[in-house]
This record gives sequence, structure tokens and C-alpha cells, in this order.
Amino acid sequence: MSVLIVNIGCAVGIAEGTTPLLRGAAMNETGQIQNAWILIEGDRISGFGSMDNVPQGSFDTIDAKGGWAFPSFCDSHTHIVYAGSREQEFEDKIRGLSYEDIAKRGGGILNSAEGLRKISENELYEQSMIRVDEVIRKGTGAIEIKSGYGLSLESELKMLRVIRRIAESVPLVVKSTFLGAHAVPAEFRGDKEGYVRLICREMLPEIARENLADYVDVFCDRGFFSVDDTARIIDRAAEFGIKAKIHADELALTGGTEIAVGKGAVSVDHLEQITENEMSFLAGGTTVPTALPGASFFSNLPFAPVRQMIDYGIGPALASDYNPGSSPSGDMRFIMSLGCIKMRMSPVEAFNATTVNGAHAMESAHLAGTITVGKLANLFITEPLPSLAFLPYAYITPLIRRIILKGQSIA
Ligand code: NIG
Ligand code: FE
Repeated sequence: MSVLIVNIGCAVGIAEGTTPLLRGAAMNETGQIQNAWILIEGDRISGFGSMDNVPQGSFDTIDAKGGWAFPSFCDSHTHIVYAGSREQEFEDKIRGLSYEDIAKRGGGILNSAEGLRKISENELYEQSMIRVDEVIRKGTGAIEIKSGYGLSLESELKMLRVIRRIAESVPLVVKSTFLGAHAVPAEFRGDKEGYVRLICREMLPEIARENLADYVDVFCDRGFFSVDDTARIIDRAAEFGIKAKIHADELALTGGTEIAVGKGAVSVDHLEQITENEMSFLAGGTTVPTALPGASFFSNLPFAPVRQMIDYGIGPALASDYNPGSSPSGDMRFIMSLGCIKMRMSPVEAFNATTVNGAHAMESAHLAGTITVGKLANLFITEPLPSLAFLPYAYITPLIRRIILKGQSIA
């Protein structure tokens, strides 16, 4: 049965044909239809237009009653699968410890690794699904999920299997990333080289054999993994046809952006420390730069220079970085607001960065990120809004009224 959504106050993110990554000034534009309808057949969008020429026939009809329709958010960087939480470290941070101080004393990622190794695959799935359900209700329709709290072959496989199970149980677009190189585990303390060898020789081949990862990631930063480690891991993954998405230049400028772009990574993420030099690499490559303002906000760190990036002609994405240490939220509307408030993006730029550009940062733009005929019917409908800018402006008002994923109403 076809579903016809009528009386949409404004449909935003309307696009015809292919939807390339938006760069520079193009980020400040989006297709809008006032007083619109959208037609859904099966899991796909099959048409849209103005209520002046609404299709006639027998449809299941949803009356939007003036509410606005948006394509679901595309959250291209999360660590949503984890065990427990880390509010103890939150208190440590309030008392003045930095993210790096906490990591150095064995907290941070290693703290989550300890918790993750102890719980069953089933329990990990149940805990993670609570968060997945939460982000669905907040408007996310496509999500990338990383491993990286296992840090041993067995526990990384456990995480990746949980990600696969999530992908099978929810109507989201899900991309899976192997982040074995997130931290050096306690049993390899002082032997980072031994751990990188384990990743290359044992973990990557097994993960590829079980087809558990779309991408490989490395936390390429001061105190974690070097540019050389990163290059080795990217090259090894490429032997199995696995592309890269890299954490880089968050805590210090260590060359991660350059290596990620040079090696053709799909995305390079964080970028809080980058300068015009890195922007010139980004401008010349295909790698999607992805800023994570939730992590800057929560960790009281600088924000990535997204305003300068856009003015330079680059096309950044924004993602939540949902994780227990530096960004315990996957609320993409809040990410949009942070883009506007802290990074001086216009509301339209922040909207494009969290939708179509996010889709590109996980190679899903043929399925998600805009309201386009042939793409998945992944949408949310809000209350009637005075303008698009109201969405990031009223940053905490619960404006989302209905979620549609793969053509099905969720809430
Ligand atoms: O993206 N930067 C590295 N990884 C995560 C933090 C993970 C954690 O602290 O648990 C991030 O911010
Ligand atoms: Fe991250």
C-alpha cells in the first residue's frame, strides 16, 4: 500500500537526481516545497509536490497538519555500542582533569573496555538498543557504529556482531566500523607495536572473513596511534577491500588529516586542531571532513574550524560521536544547534551537514540524506515551524512529532 503524506507546512531537503556532497557556498542552499505532499511506496519515496496538485487515488494518508517534513539525520560517527557509562569521569572532568589525564591513568577508553569484556553479547545488545531506540526517536535514520571498546580479537568480534544484530533489527541504514586501534589495551601496555601487529595479522583478516566491517578506523592522535600506525592499518585493511574512516587531529595536530586524505579515506573526523594547511589537503581530496561538536562541547575542547572550512570551499559533515566518554548523546538536533552556536554555521549549512553530507561520510547518499525519489522513505515530521532556523534555535523543545523509517511509521 502506498502512503501519502499531505498538508506538510514545508518539505525541506528536497532534491532531484543525484545528490553530491555539498561544498562551500552550496551548503547554504536546500530545496523546499511549501504546502507539500510526499508519496511513499514500500520503503522508498516515489514522489513529492505541492498540495495544488496532490495525487488522487486510494492511499493510506497521513495528515501532517502543517508540520514540516525533513529527511532523517545521517549520523556518520558513533560509538553507540558500549557497556555501562562513565559519569565518574564526568565528575573527574568537573574537578579539572582533562580527557588525556583520565586516559593516562587507565580510565577513558580502557575503562569502557574493561566493562565491555565482562558482559555477554546479549547484554551488550540490550544496553545498546536502548540508545539506538533513543536516537531513532530523535530523528536519526542512518548511523555508523564503531567497535573499539573490545581491544582483543574476541571482544572486538563481540562488538561487531552486536552492530550486525542492530542492523538486522532496526529500520535504519547501519554502517559498521572496526576501530581496534582505539587505544592500546592494558595487556599490551608499553608494546603498542605488538598490538598494531595483532590488528594487522589477526583481527583484520578474521573480521574481513566474517564480513563484519564496512570500514576501518584508527584513533590517530597524541598519546594514541601515530601516523605510521595509521598508514599500516589503512593499507592492511585495503588488502581486504575495507576503506577507512579516521579519527584525526583532535587533541593535537599529528598529521592524521594528511594521511587520511592521501590514502583516500571515506572520512576524517574530529579536526579540532586543523589549520589552513590541512584545509588545502581536504580541498584537494574526496575525503569528507567530519566535525563532532558534541565532543568539543562535552569535553570543553576547541571546536573544529567549520566556518573557515566552508568559506574555504570544503564540504564538512557533522556527527554526534555518541560515546560514553566524550559525547554521551546522539541528539542530532543538538549537534545542529552546536554547529550554529559554536561553529557559526547557518541553520541551512548545519542541516545539510547533518543530512546529505553525513550520508556521504558513510557512502549512503544513494539511500539517505535528502527527500529524493528512489531514496529510502526515512523522514521525520515536526510541529508546524515558523522557519527552518527554528529547528536548531529552539534547541531543546521536543518538536519531532512523527518518525517514518523505510516507509513505516515508528512513532
Ligand atoms: O571520538 N577520540 C576517540 N574516541 C572517542 C572517545 C571514546 C571514549 O572516550 O570512550 C571520540 O571522542
Ligand atoms: Fe569518535
